[in-house]
Amino acid sequence: PEHRPLYGKHVLVTAGPTHEPIDPVRYIANRSSGRQGFAIAAAAAAAGARVTLVAGPVHLDTPPGVDRIDVESALEMADTVKRCLPADAAIMVAAVADWRTRDVASEKIKKRGSAPPALLLTENPDILATVAGLPKRPKLLVGFAAETEDVIFNAKEKRRRKGADWIVANDVSGPPGQSVMGGEDNTVHIITASGVESLPELPKNDVAYALVERIADALQ
Ligand code: C5P
Repeated sequence: PEHRPLYGKHVLVTAGPTHEPIDPVRYIANRSSGRQGFAIAAAAAAAGARVTLVAGPVHLDTPPGVDRIDVESALEMADTVKRCLPADAAIMVAAVADWRTRDVASEKIKKRGSAPPALLLTENPDILATVAGLPKRPKLLVGFAAETEDVIFNAKEKRRRKGADWIVANDVSGPPGQSVMGGEDNTVHIITASGVESLPELPKNDVAYALVERIADALQ
């Protein structure tokens, strides 16, 4: 029916940050509240989709009708996403940490009054790019791009480089805590193969509804 345009579709959403452990009490993370991804999962469920939400560590309630799987690290998120395929559409909103510590200390690292420890980092897998190359690649694969400069140019580049169908770009410049991250509103540009659609500044819920409307059209 008209008001449940995603009925019968499986939509996979990643959201939130990832935590990359340093030792049992410390981690490296990206700034992300998970709000935009949770709003997209909620909107997709409201549109009738079966929704799997793979969530990093966030303080948010599970939206009604959404199957949520909590993960901590990028490696866990990557495994979980692969396990949850096939999906008709995947919307990768998570702010995945680019690096993890190469060796996780099994005991808490002591201060010991000497030099601070050096963290040896190694690259995390790019979940979006990995899914783009899978035989089970969803028909519609959407990535997000948080940029602080040359937003559209960098997002177009990212779309090609990662093999996504769309990139939703947002400008996250501004002081930590006062920008789009953690805030209520978002200004996004939807970059597809055929061009750029810029939406006005909107509450994250409205961005989610606008996006889900376009996802439903694309899956028709
Ligand atoms: O390269 P960048 O982190 O800016 O790319 C952002 C997009 O790629 C988002 O859709 C994000 O969820 C996805 N991503 C990912 N795995 C990573 C890094 C980013 O899926 N390791």
